[in-house]
Amino acid sequence: MPRTPIAAGNWKMNGTSAEARALCRGLSGIDQIAGVEVVLAPSFTQLGLVWDFWCGTDVHVAGQNMHPQPSGAYTGEVSPVQLAEVADWVILGHSERRQFFCEDDQTLALKLRAADAHGLTPILCVGESEAERENKRTSAVLTRQVSLALGDDPQPAGLVIAYEPVWAIGTGQAATPVEAQSACELIRSVVADKLGAEAADAVRILYGGSVKPDNIADFMAQPDVDGALVGGAALDSDAFLAITRAIAASA
Ligand code: 13P
Repeated sequence: MPRTPIAAGNWKMNGTSAEARALCRGLSGIDQIAGVEVVLAPSFTQLGLVWDFWCGTDVHVAGQNMHPQPSGAYTGEVSPVQLAEVADWVILGHSERRQFFCEDDQTLALKLRAADAHGLTPILCVGESEAERENKRTSAVLTRQVSLALGDDPQPAGLVIAYEPVWAIGTGQAATPVEAQSACELIRSVVADKLGAEAADAVRILYGGSVKPDNIADFMAQPDVDGALVGGAALDSDAFLAITRAIAASA
């Protein structure tokens, strides 16, 4: 089954609202690139303006995190109901959330269900640390992260998974295309075990970690890589446009 590839930009905790608006302006025309789904993930305070900017286009807007409960006494958190007013996608389980904010696989399972229940397409992030890689634990870590987050329930609609090896994030040292392929292939096989062959065929799996305009084509040449989750290069409109075009060209 052909899978529409995805160009997703995770802006992380960067920029003012004025800078977010300027970045959106710099990305003008990105919604006209055929054959690719574009997702922009700004900070919570910028979601409204980015949502309004792209209103009426096919560009998706994502939160970078979300609480699983629809409302309640959770100071500082944002609920799926609130997020769905200004976004249609959500990034869940980014390694920076796992590392600095103690997100665990069980909580992520709840968040995945909540995203689905509120019509938000989730990008579930998984990936091994440098130490886990050195100890040859990559397969075990990815298998655990994907299986526990998915649980035994039906697949959330339009589930997307991003393979982001922690050692490749923001380091300039991307995984090799072969490493990315073997991890994405494994992730697809775990989805097949949990949810069946049809779900595994449909799930889109992104690579993330030091993606740049000059390495994206090699990742997209891999059969199990369906796009990219881009950090640093997504803050540069020309670079993100170039990456998006390259992803579209690979389809
Ligand atoms: P970089 O592209 O800056 O390595 O970040 C990747 C990432 O963490 C995207 O979520």
